Amino acid sequence: MKYGYFDDQKREYVITRPDTPLPWINYLGCEAYFGIISNTAGGYSFFRDARLRRITRYRYNNAPYDVGGRYIYLRDDSSGEFWSPSWQPTQNKLEEYSCRHGMGYTTISSKYKGIEASTRYFVPLDENVEIWQLNVTNHRPQAAELSVFSIIEFCLWDAQDDSTNFQRNFSIGEVEIEDGVIYHKTEYRERRDHFAFFACSEKIAGYDTQREAFLGPYRGWDNPAAVERGHCSNSVAHGWAPVGSHHVKLSLEPGETRQINFVLGYQENPRDQKFDPPDSQIINKKAAKAVIAKYRVAANVNAAFEKLRLYWNDLLGLCQVDTPDVHTNRMVNIWNAYQCMATFNISRSASFYESGIGRGLGFRDSNQDLLGFVHMVPGRARERIVDLAATQLPTGGAYHQYQPLTKRGNDDVGSGFNDDPHWLIIGVGAYLKETGDWGILDELVPYDNAPGSETPLYEHLQRSFRYTLERLGPHGLPLIGRADWNDCLNLNCFSDSPGQSFQTTTNKDGKVAESVFIAGLFVLAGSELAEIARHRGLAAEAATYLAEVAKMDATIHKHGWDGEWFLRAYDDFSRKIGSKENVEGKIYIETQGFCTLAGIGLEDGLAAKALESTRKLLATEHGIVLQQPAYSKYYLEYGEISSYPPGYKENAGIFCHNNPWVVIGETRVGNGDAAHDYYTRINPSAREEISDIHRCEPYVYAQMIAGRDAPTFGEAKNSWLTGTAAWNYYAITQWILGIRTSYEGLLIAPVIPKSWRSFKARRKFRGVTYQIEVQRAGDGNKVCLEVNGAPIQGNLVPLPPAGTKIVVVKATLR
Ligand code: BGC
Ligand code: NOJ
Repeated sequence: MKYGYFDDQKREYVITRPDTPLPWINYLGCEAYFGIISNTAGGYSFFRDARLRRITRYRYNNAPYDVGGRYIYLRDDSSGEFWSPSWQPTQNKLEEYSCRHGMGYTTISSKYKGIEASTRYFVPLDENVEIWQLNVTNHRPQAAELSVFSIIEFCLWDAQDDSTNFQRNFSIGEVEIEDGVIYHKTEYRERRDHFAFFACSEKIAGYDTQREAFLGPYRGWDNPAAVERGHCSNSVAHGWAPVGSHHVKLSLEPGETRQINFVLGYQENPRDQKFDPPDSQIINKKAAKAVIAKYRVAANVNAAFEKLRLYWNDLLGLCQVDTPDVHTNRMVNIWNAYQCMATFNISRSASFYESGIGRGLGFRDSNQDLLGFVHMVPGRARERIVDLAATQLPTGGAYHQYQPLTKRGNDDVGSGFNDDPHWLIIGVGAYLKETGDWGILDELVPYDNAPGSETPLYEHLQRSFRYTLERLGPHGLPLIGRADWNDCLNLNCFSDSPGQSFQTTTNKDGKVAESVFIAGLFVLAGSELAEIARHRGLAAEAATYLAEVAKMDATIHKHGWDGEWFLRAYDDFSRKIGSKENVEGKIYIETQGFCTLAGIGLEDGLAAKALESTRKLLATEHGIVLQQPAYSKYYLEYGEISSYPPGYKENAGIFCHNNPWVVIGETRVGNGDAAHDYYTRINPSAREEISDIHRCEPYVYAQMIAGRDAPTFGEAKNSWLTGTAAWNYYAITQWILGIRTSYEGLLIAPVIPKSWRSFKARRKFRGVTYQIEVQRAGDGNKVCLEVNGAPIQGNLVPLPPAGTKIVVVKATLR
């Protein structure tokens, strides 16, 4: 069952009923000012950091699930009846409803008793404001007297503090109101130099800034006293809970449409210019007023929207494909690329499943995210790499996370996740292959942000590699530390007290438990580093990396192979994990995927065997589960993984992030049918028809789909912020379609389904547009290339002479 449809022309998903199984959300903002918005206008906004600069309040895990947001109420002043044009929170039975989630904007439209309202929410580029562009049309045969009310709830900036520290917070709220603009200035009197504002393009009939005045005592958002009564009370918040509400009166002739623009914004002032006059306590509003004046003019709002549209056109235009599969096309051309930009911007910090106060930017996460967005915003990718590397520690280890606002490593979580450093090599490799910007390796970057500790970025990579060599365990495999890619495989934790953090509690000295996953990652990262070294003219150094890689490969063969699949790890007693010897957790996906994608066992058949076992033991119709059999009880020596009931999350859930590793593994053994089949099983668009089972948004990936051990097999959770986005994008574009970046140039190496006769692609790469056409002339994957009409040997398209704009590539598969 579906709850809407894809409008691919407009690059929108159109939700046609408001009561989706879960809130289906979208992101607003591209660089600094961000918002989350659901299909019923729920959600919140923040500036850069969802914890430290939260602009509006949001209550997670609420009932109903999604309440609180960017609400507008309409009131028929002749009858006193009022409703929410976004359905929530009043939930009136709307005659028409649609929510169009598009690229950086959301439009919610509805009709109720002949009054149509359509609100387009977006954040203009390069501006720290969001706009609610509301059009109200009267379709009645007679004139309508209406009232429009806006409402947002200001958060007192630090979202964590905001939801805990009420003894203080109920006494600090402050606002100013000038020319109908509501300025939120809590804590501005002391150490803050930023404030928020909420403005309206029309002359207002009244306002409210104190929540209780707007709602009335003992009332909720579904029944605000001000709206019921038909007017605000011009309340001035002092303490308690500052909100922003405007009341606008509208008289509409039959057929008439009026537009109202609401502008919610964030402004920072120079420290020495906070107040105006300087010796007062009144906010200096100069800069804010200019922005407000601009967006009070409808033409400027439209122009800003057009700019945003072109921005996304350009970004998505960098890679467009035309294959026989609509779901592939839709995801590659629109939604998967778009989701990659969201994970780049927000990492894992703020979604409807990440509260915005828990996690900042993950070291491994952000490095992997690069795989999906580096071609779209290479300049920002460069900056991200440098920021990440600056949180690396002198040992080569890394802070597991850092705060986007301060760009400092997060001490609460610390380091010791022994896979982390290698992802930096993978991230930098992806950047170099895309851009050819070798200069980044000479960039001076500190360790732990300590001035004076700078070395060239290249040395950061060297230290990453060495980090593992200095931490090998009894079998010569890498020690796992706090966890590897699987945050829940906590083999040194041994936690028996409720509430202890699995990720930071360590009761063992960590000298025994080893990870076969990190070994596979080491092989991949080491090979990358060798190539990078070779390009820097360091042939001898490259050879030493390759020697270590070969050694690790041999160790995996010797101690990381279980007979029919790759082992997963050794625990603190040096007992196998992911082995036929185990009662539960006999086989894990991570090592089957990652070792095969890293090319381990390609020659001697281990890779093919591991993939066969994966198919037999882990693959389901909803995707490939993480391990089998699921853990049915808590294992002290394994940690968080066994804390989840069977079928969820890392305990035998379909953890979508690692499915594309198997997809790539299948392409490496030349099996395009299997690769695309796995790709399709978790492709959200291909699952749209079962939205009642999948339940999450059909336009973006979710982190997890419940595995077959769960009663809710097939149900997705934790949509949007997941490494799944980047890895699937990378798997489909670079490995199945095979348009692959390399240090030397663009490779054409498709491994597509046998039934595909052809596909086309347009890919911009290092300033040149490649027009690619792939034809099948046989069942195999052997590529014969023609570049600009001339046949060439091999499958690397040579870099064209400077100034070339277009290269035409024809590939024939035999
Ligand atoms: C989750 C992991 C996640 C980790 C982050 C765990 O509870 O299961 O998926 O990576 O938390 O700290
Ligand atoms: C989500 C985390 O963000 C990621 O870093 C981790 O690899 C996976 N969970 C698996 O545990």
